[in-house]
Amino acid sequence: MEDYRTLNKASWDERAPAHAASPDYSVERLAADPAFISDVIRFDQPLLGDVAGLRGVHLQCHIGTDTISLARLGASMTGLDFSPAALEQARGLARRTGDDVRFVEADVYDAVSVLGAASFDLVFTGIGALCWLPSIRRWAAVVAGLLRPGGRLFIREAHPMLGTLSDPREDGLLVIDFPYFEQAEPMVWDEGGTYVQTDAVFTHNRTHQWNHGLGEIVTALLDAGLELTGLAEHDSVPWNAMPGQMEEAGGGEWRLADRPWRLAHTYTLQAAKLR
Ligand SMILES: C[S@@+](CC[C@H](N)C(=O)[O-])C[C@H]1O[C@@H](n2cnc3c(N)ncnc32)[C@H](O)[C@@H]1O
Repeated sequence: MEDYRTLNKASWDERAPAHAASPDYSVERLAADPAFISDVIRFDQPLLGDVAGLRGVHLQCHIGTDTISLARLGASMTGLDFSPAALEQARGLARRTGDDVRFVEADVYDAVSVLGAASFDLVFTGIGALCWLPSIRRWAAVVAGLLRPGGRLFIREAHPMLGTLSDPREDGLLVIDFPYFEQAEPMVWDEGGTYVQTDAVFTHNRTHQWNHGLGEIVTALLDAGLELTGLAEHDSVPWNAMPGQMEEAGGGEWRLADRPWRLAHTYTLQAAKLR
């Protein structure tokens, strides 16, 4: 039996250095300009509001560009990821920039035992995070466990409808091909390449992924003791999710070239822990 963590970690470990070297992650701009904030966090800012002084944790922080950006907005940040290669890039970047950010290696499902219960004001995550997790209910319990009472979750994530779509087709049709609802069995992919510009060639290409419906995500958070405080859907996504069918929309965002209003590309969900 294949272990999803082993497969997925090997894929991320191999891709992390290529991501750090790609212009799409703007590592050199973060290093050169202490006021630079990643495109992802810049997009989030109007809904995110003021994070200065908050104790924040960034789940599945990857190479740390968004974690460091949140620290630059005044939050005291911890980034968590299970990929040692991604964290090596994140720590190296923080050393270069002098930003005071802690990076911790752990599986997201172990985050409460590793980081401590009720120890954060803000859980931040998303942009290609949830699809790596088999159970949205276990994830919601982790989010609730990490937050102090009154603390909040901020997630901008690929919309589950985007996750259902077949690979781009020559006829341009958007065809629903993959599960919308969470399934026990993973979707198994075997694909070279990645979502940023790079010449790197990869060998660890087999991954396991899951989709989670919007109702499943909201219900899991409510059942874990959080209150929904915001839900917005967006007509753009911060990577070229449908090559050949999307065009750049500015600010690192992409959207369908043809009638983008047909599809919610991403959503921002905010929730607060009640007690
Ligand atoms: C697409 S990246 C997400 C990132 C972040 N939003 C970004 O774009 O930089 C997904 C990250 O999730 C991490 N990841 C996947 N499964 C994980 C797990 N079970 N526990 C912790 N991290 C995990 C990977 O190592 C990778 O760094």
